[in-house]
Amino acid sequence: MPSILVVSASPSEKSKTAALAQHVADRLTSMEMEARHLRLRDLPPEALVRADTKNTQIAEAAALLKDAQGVVLVTPTYKASYSGLLKVFLDLLPQYALAGKAILPLATGGTLAHALMLDYALRPVLHALGARHSVQGHFVIESVLDPTSNGLITDVRYSEMLDQVVGQFDEAVKFAANSVA
Ligand SMILES: Cc1cc2nc3c(=O)[nH]c(=O)nc-3n(C[C@H](O)[C@H](O)[C@H](O)COP(=O)(O)O)c2cc1C
Repeated sequence: MPSILVVSASPSEKSKTAALAQHVADRLTSMEMEARHLRLRDLPPEALVRADTKNTQIAEAAALLKDAQGVVLVTPTYKASYSGLLKVFLDLLPQYALAGKAILPLATGGTLAHALMLDYALRPVLHALGARHSVQGHFVIESVLDPTSNGLITDVRYSEMLDQVVGQFDEAVKFAANSVA
């Protein structure tokens, strides 16, 4: 069973980004993947900012990522880019930490004006980290996310688009596994 790490990168306690990440983790689990959700806000802030890779929780998080066949990165859009919390985490990983892994980039945001943020801001960073099996990113406008509702996503078009990219990610996980073998 492929192991998938779903990383959510909002500093907010009540976070739509984290709700989306958990939703995707549950979906992947239902597709017979072993999905685990890591909330970066739960890591020790001082160790994160100081890139203290010897810190136990940071080392455990990096090990979870190292052992995963697939990684889903879920970030809020901040100032037309991905969150600083995601950046400090990615910066403390080894240079080619994403090599050989399937990657699914997802974002929440307040305005569709920044729907391309994943492509212009995050994708080059993923490439620098060695990602070569990254599927099309998906931007979810926050107005369609209702953490109090059962299915989380209140607009069927967005939930269908999410299903599509999760399906593509499933294919990418299989492709990456075959490329490594
Ligand atoms: C500091 C800050 C900056 C933001 N900048 C943008 C932005 O540039 N573009 C955008 O679409 N949304 C922006 N937003 C809205 C967030 O992306 C949106 O509310 C997101 O869903 C928040 O996720 P969260 O509930 O997980 O924190 C910003 C929100 C904050 C708090």
